[in-house]
Amino acid sequence: MAEMLTLALSKGRIFEETLPLLKAAGIEPLDDPEKSRKLILETNLPDVRLIIVRASDVPTYVEYGGADMGVAGKDVLMEHPTAELYEPVDLKIACCKLMTAGKQNAEPPQGRLKVATKFVESTKRFYAEQGQQVEIIKLYGSMELAPLVGMADRIVDVVDTGNTLRANGLIPMEHIADISSRLVVNKASMKTKHARIQQFIEQIRNAVKEQQ
Ligand code: ADP
Ligand code: PRP
Ligand code: MG
Repeated sequence: MAEMLTLALSKGRIFEETLPLLKAAGIEPLDDPEKSRKLILETNLPDVRLIIVRASDVPTYVEYGGADMGVAGKDVLMEHPTAELYEPVDLKIACCKLMTAGKQNAEPPQGRLKVATKFVESTKRFYAEQGQQVEIIKLYGSMELAPLVGMADRIVDVVDTGNTLRANGLIPMEHIADISSRLVVNKASMKTKHARIQQFIEQIRNAVKEQQ
């Protein structure tokens, strides 16, 4: 029996944009996570399975060996610095930018700038590099709302088309980082399943090149 490879993915854009890369590597899931309630999806290859987790939990599953590999946004990886993961391939999917944003003609704040975000680590780092003291308000989503209800002066969020900012009367301000999704690999798996994982990485690398 071949050793099992477990790949952690999140539902939605990461799953959908990873599918063609997996297909090019000869891997096809037998279920659709949007239709099935199953969290472990078998594939056409008996030695490869997919697990469906929250986008922000992918690094945790891979770090602790719940999965050998995973696909995670660079924004998520920047919030989860660890030496336990390899990041061998930029998949060039789910591309966006991490940015600050705020109201166009807002009055400058009285005291410290208040910044609402789910990206606390990247936000701390960004303002520290600017030498600016800020108060960070941790949120889990819908950050665009915070300036509209007077709770924050700025947000830090991912921006693609800018439609969400525009729809809420906000403008993009400073660019913090270009974001795309990465293949991440558990360091112990890389040793114990080296040949199989190396083969998978090469197939995915080729698939990424083909898609460019
Ligand atoms: P979540 O439930 O955490 O919001 P998503 O599936 O929306 O998960 O996002 C997964 C990853 O896709 C993010 O970590 C980010 O890297 C990227 N991403 C998020 N929003 C967008 C977007 N609007 N356009 C392109 N990529 C995005
Ligand atoms: C993401 C992100 C922004 C939006 C940016 O939300 O949190 O709100 O996309 O994309 P845009 O610049 O093209 O509008 P998502 O669609 O993932 O919804 P979510 O709130 O469920 O995460
Ligand atoms: Mg999202």
